[in-house]
Amino acid sequence: MSRKAALMTASQIILKPNSVLGLATGDTPRGMYQELINMYKNNEIDFSDIVTFNLDEYYGLPPDNPRSYHYYMENTFFNKINIKDENSHIPDGNAKEIKKHCREYEFKIKNHGGIDLQILGIVSNGHIGFNEPADRLNVKTDIVELSEETIEANSRFFNSKNNIPKRTISVGMATILKAKRILLLASGSKKAEAIRDTVSGYIDPKVPSSFLQLHNSVILIIDKKAAKLL
Ligand code: F6R
Repeated sequence: MSRKAALMTASQIILKPNSVLGLATGDTPRGMYQELINMYKNNEIDFSDIVTFNLDEYYGLPPDNPRSYHYYMENTFFNKINIKDENSHIPDGNAKEIKKHCREYEFKIKNHGGIDLQILGIVSNGHIGFNEPADRLNVKTDIVELSEETIEANSRFFNSKNNIPKRTISVGMATILKAKRILLLASGSKKAEAIRDTVSGYIDPKVPSSFLQLHNSVILIIDKKAAKLL
């Protein structure tokens, strides 16, 4: 899965060296990042002109906190390839004027011509980015309250549920859906219901990923366990 995802991402960069990539964190894309690092080390791919925008960041975590997505991206990927510092963007969980920061993040994505390829992971409740199941979903980058399900799923990174920030900054649904191509990665039976509801359920804000059915270029890279309810 990681190799396939990396090959698709690499082909995007080879076809358009100044591609704008939307990136995800979490456990799922780790292997893909490692494959891309390997390709870079083998001189198969050049990241010097790519621009990246991460999907999300925990509210209140400074970039040097080992649980922040800044820290994850630096140590999992950015430090190991030749991306320019000024070309990688991650929402700032510590921004003073948070609403203004969200608006500016959105504006930067637009100014770079939008996302060419968006990488997504998914949680069992169908959240993408940190757009959680709700009656209404955010259109643009904004502050989001985490659901109990996500707090449960992600507390593995924080030792205990009490330590995980309960709010995040996440790009909105329209920001994701405006990406030219989307790659959704999922593995394991915990994600099977979410994958079924993503591709074959109603379009429902209670399953944010179901909105991907409105997009005309989404590729799912999933294993047999995640696909078992299809
Ligand atoms: C992280 C993100 C999240 C994760 C999701 C799955 O940037 O956008 O939506 O993709 O929480 O996480 P893992 O891969 O750890 O199961």
